[in-house]
Amino acid sequence: MQSRKWLGQCPDCSEWNTLVEERFRPPAKDGGDLARGMFTARDRHPMSFSSIRADDDERTSTGIGELDRVLGGGIVAGSLVLIGGAPGIGKSTLVIQMADRIEVDGRPILYVSGEESERQIKMRGERLGLAADNLLILPETDLQSIFAAVEDLRPALMIVDSIQTVYNPRIESAPGSVSQVRDAAGQLMTFAKQSATPVFVTGHVTKEGSIAGPRTLEHIVDTVIYFEGDRHHNHRIIRATKNRFGAANEIGVFEMTGSGLAAVGNPSELFLQERPAGASGSVVTVCMEGTRPVLVEIQALVSGTRTASGRRMAQGFDHNRASLLIAVLEKRLGYQLAGDDVFVNVAGGLEIDEPAADLGVIAAIASSFRNQEIDPETAVFGEVGLTGEVRGVLQPQARAREAQTLGFKKLIVPESNKKGLEKMLGLRVVGVRTLEQVMDEIFQGWAARAK
Ligand SMILES: Nc1ncnc2c1ncn2[C@@H]1O[C@H](COP(=O)(O)OP(=O)(O)OP(=O)(O)O)[C@@H](O)[C@H]1O
Ligand SMILES: [Mg+2]
Repeated sequence: MQSRKWLGQCPDCSEWNTLVEERFRPPAKDGGDLARGMFTARDRHPMSFSSIRADDDERTSTGIGELDRVLGGGIVAGSLVLIGGAPGIGKSTLVIQMADRIEVDGRPILYVSGEESERQIKMRGERLGLAADNLLILPETDLQSIFAAVEDLRPALMIVDSIQTVYNPRIESAPGSVSQVRDAAGQLMTFAKQSATPVFVTGHVTKEGSIAGPRTLEHIVDTVIYFEGDRHHNHRIIRATKNRFGAANEIGVFEMTGSGLAAVGNPSELFLQERPAGASGSVVTVCMEGTRPVLVEIQALVSGTRTASGRRMAQGFDHNRASLLIAVLEKRLGYQLAGDDVFVNVAGGLEIDEPAADLGVIAAIASSFRNQEIDPETAVFGEVGLTGEVRGVLQPQARAREAQTLGFKKLIVPESNKKGLEKMLGLRVVGVRTLEQVMDEIFQGWAARAK
């Protein structure tokens, strides 16, 4: 969206204060293009669909399993990948580890750094124990010089750290501004496509999503990978929010150690390891993160409010969805929550974006409200509708298997998902249709046995 004068609210997306000023400059005579035509002067003419070769099997492994998974099975030639995340979360660490491990045919890997000097990069590399024989470091921010270097080198992979520091000298706005960042991404895209070289760029995003930052690039690049959660956890989650070459929403889980990012083999174990024993307001649910089932703990805290009406806050779960589920609890089960603050939190910094977690959120809130703990060996999943009905979700088998693997004894699932899950060794699967049945299963049965 562009406007000739300042507006408080963007007429396109209705967000406030998102317009930033950019000085208008007439485009350079040659269009300001640096990368176009550099590699192939191939004629652009329509090609018949059947004559085009799709080289999907030619994916290159990054040497980091979790990153390959998020990319959809490795790097596609000529793709432009954006790695975004909060400052200091580990973007440079991830890309340099990839540069060390990736297997290429003897051609160099070019790491363009606009943020750190070659000595700083070397120090990080030594801490991470990298050999990186093939790695060339170029501390440069001028796109013209970068492309000049690239033309000589013909690297197998190019990394630009970060997109906010590089600039096109033919455009007269500051590095990091919307027009520079967009232009740089566009030039790198042209370069990637024409030379079939994969290009990785890093970009900072603040929690709110900085305006001139990666958010404006999401539609330009092929794949967007964000670091999720925050720096205060020891583990790091990367997620593909967009992927032209694979399933979006796939996650990779790492632990940040002194020697870099180490893959976490079993994320469920990691997310459950700090689960409190015998506390109310905590329940385990099974989410699908891309193609992988992950067990997570959902926590809720219901406490008397000091304000006129209770606050509702959710972290790692959609705030509006949480409010809706609270309303369902009030209306369908008669829970009086209006005078309470309700907080919902997904432990471990994961962000859940699927209705299958509804039942977990409801169970956690109910548990805190009643001050009654939930059997730690019970897990739940299911979508909850407005009438309090429990609806089926996708991939019940995969979810149940994960719960079984981690030693859960009882699984509460939507009745329509129960078929085919009865014969799971060591796991009792209970199908439910309504919230009343859920509450009976979770509280009455368990409370009676616990006594
Ligand atoms: N000696 C160390 N031991 C363990 N972890 C370290 C050590 N030094 C740095 N780290 C970790 O590495 C992180 C920095 O990683 P990195 O520089 O890759 O982040 P970044 O996302 O590229 O940051 P920036 O936005 O500043 O470019 C730190 O937040 C810290 O967690
Ligand atoms: Mg960095």
